[in-house]
Amino acid sequence: MNTTEAISTFVEFFERRGHRAIEGSSLVPPPGDPVLFTTSGMHPLTPYLLGRPHPLGRRLTGVQRCLRTTDLAEVGDRTHLTAFQMLGTWSLGDYDGPQSQQFGLELLCDHFGLRPELLYATAFGGNTEVGPDTTAAETWTSLGLPVELLGAEHNWWSNGPAGPCGPDSEIFVWIGAGPPEGSPGTDERWLELWNHVTLRYERHADGSLAPLSQQSVDTGMGLERLLMVATGASSVFETDALASWLSALPAVWPLRDERDGPAALRVVTDHLRSSVVVIGDGVRPSNTGRGYVLRRLLRRVLTELWRGDPGSPLTLADLPPELVRDTADRFGQVTEPAAVRSVLLVEERRYRQLLTRGQSLLARLYPSGSLTEADYRYLHETHGLPRELVCDVLGRMRAG
Ligand code: ALA
Repeated sequence: MNTTEAISTFVEFFERRGHRAIEGSSLVPPPGDPVLFTTSGMHPLTPYLLGRPHPLGRRLTGVQRCLRTTDLAEVGDRTHLTAFQMLGTWSLGDYDGPQSQQFGLELLCDHFGLRPELLYATAFGGNTEVGPDTTAAETWTSLGLPVELLGAEHNWWSNGPAGPCGPDSEIFVWIGAGPPEGSPGTDERWLELWNHVTLRYERHADGSLAPLSQQSVDTGMGLERLLMVATGASSVFETDALASWLSALPAVWPLRDERDGPAALRVVTDHLRSSVVVIGDGVRPSNTGRGYVLRRLLRRVLTELWRGDPGSPLTLADLPPELVRDTADRFGQVTEPAAVRSVLLVEERRYRQLLTRGQSLLARLYPSGSLTEADYRYLHETHGLPRELVCDVLGRMRAG
């Protein structure tokens, strides 16, 4: 099964159950939205989840490109990506959570071939504001899945400090080598696959929680993770969604997929792929907001390529244009590879200059290599050298 087949299997399953397919939106939310990037399929639907009638009705499905930088430290493992596609379904005041759970299990087992004995569910265990979601837990039990009740840090969904929110129930799949062990809360080899949220509340700006008059269901499943488990791939990087990057990049840059160590190839793949998508939605590197997120992604790539040496001959000019085109196509964007290339090269040149300047400045001002908080502040405010860059240069000075 490849990306196209997985998307059509998902969307058609829900279309046969009365859902209408909606187009995905940009990664950049409309002006006035407090969130930097779209992190979930429900984000563009917020007004409808709060009660405005949707022109296509009460049952929707679709694919939304998302960017999450909260899991940056995990990128390089088998399952985390910064940019990904989220398959989603929405019941806008129509069917309830148990119906969504039943659809979910049927689709995964009967159409994607997942084995029920490798699945586990979690549900909201309650907190001081809202009681446990016993309905979700009982539904999983009646559908034959083991279920674990967890706290709000795991099983409460909100898209920001204010807005629609509610308890969620997640389907996990076992990706360990042997038979399943433990539970999602106790063993990391349970991979979170599909989140089913019952949006029953609205959080107001003052922190108060009010019941919504229209109760909705919002679900989201990462396409690349689904492909991984449905095809038996060992990581998301081995699925057709990313495989072209893994085969093309080692031919242009000396990166290896070191499965047991720091996975430079995976990090470079993830961050460059995300940068292509972010640039495709009109963002340009800068020192604030979205542009800064892009700048950090690109600098991490350059750190991996150059290992702190600004004289390195490796350059983003060698990024194969077909990877840019393929990625843009997959994320539903129209992007000219030459335009992406020129953004990458301007940023690369800037970073080379900063690193070169940083090296001589640090060698002159701090030959011992030990800096105080005030030194970091001075270097940032007076010389425009951010802390991450100073740390890169220091790391190289120590290594050299
Ligand atoms: N909005 C929920 C999520 O992204 C489905 O996990």
